[in-house]
Amino acid sequence: MIDSHCHINDKAFLNREEEYIKNANSVGVDTFLVVGCDLSMSKKAVEIANRYEGCFAAVGIHPSDSKNAGSNDLDEIEKLLSNNKVVAIGEIGLDYYWDKEENIKAHQKEYFVKQIELANKYNLPISIHCRDAYEDCLNILKEHHVNRGGVMHCYGGSKEMMKEFIKLGFYIGIGGTVTFKNAVKIKEVAAVVPSDRYLLETDSPYLAPTPHRGEENQSMYIPLIRDQIAELRGISKEQVDKETTENFKRLFNI
Ligand code: NI
Repeated sequence: MIDSHCHINDKAFLNREEEYIKNANSVGVDTFLVVGCDLSMSKKAVEIANRYEGCFAAVGIHPSDSKNAGSNDLDEIEKLLSNNKVVAIGEIGLDYYWDKEENIKAHQKEYFVKQIELANKYNLPISIHCRDAYEDCLNILKEHHVNRGGVMHCYGGSKEMMKEFIKLGFYIGIGGTVTFKNAVKIKEVAAVVPSDRYLLETDSPYLAPTPHRGEENQSMYIPLIRDQIAELRGISKEQVDKETTENFKRLFNI
């Protein structure tokens, strides 16, 4: 199994990376996309990808971090793209949950578009973080075509909106929220998303699946997410494994 979005580079796992990977390996999770949120976490993601065979990196500036980014940070991000374990730009996008002021929203959009342009320049897919901003996100992606597409990480939108993102070449990242009792929308999405367009992810250390909700999340919980999806789709766990592994490899060209 593959965790298509995790933060082994988070300070929560400092000096525990090896244990983290062993825990995951012991339940059959052997490939990880380690995702950056700012320059220093992006560098750390590359460092981990260089150190562990099954780890790959995404580098970029998260919308909530864009207001604190230094003027050279995007240039520094660009330098990281020459590393051959860097397979995507991310996580990038829009987050209006925390930032509601118009000037900060405009700044987020600017960073989002600049990083889409970077992805196209290096022919890389993107990993999108989107919260309370699905309309704007969709409009930006319509105006700024991403050549290699990408993934809507920890997707929280509607089934109708899902179809729009898929039309634009995007995959749907399904995480621990799919196991939450009252998470109606993502359960609906997981049941109907095309078999060639979904990925498994944890977003560790956040969003641990049931029965670990509220605790530290790790990639070793991927099977809990997979099992829930198998049930919703009425297919075997092995089939979910197979589909999500193929999808990941196709999207990130691994
Ligand atoms: Ni994340």
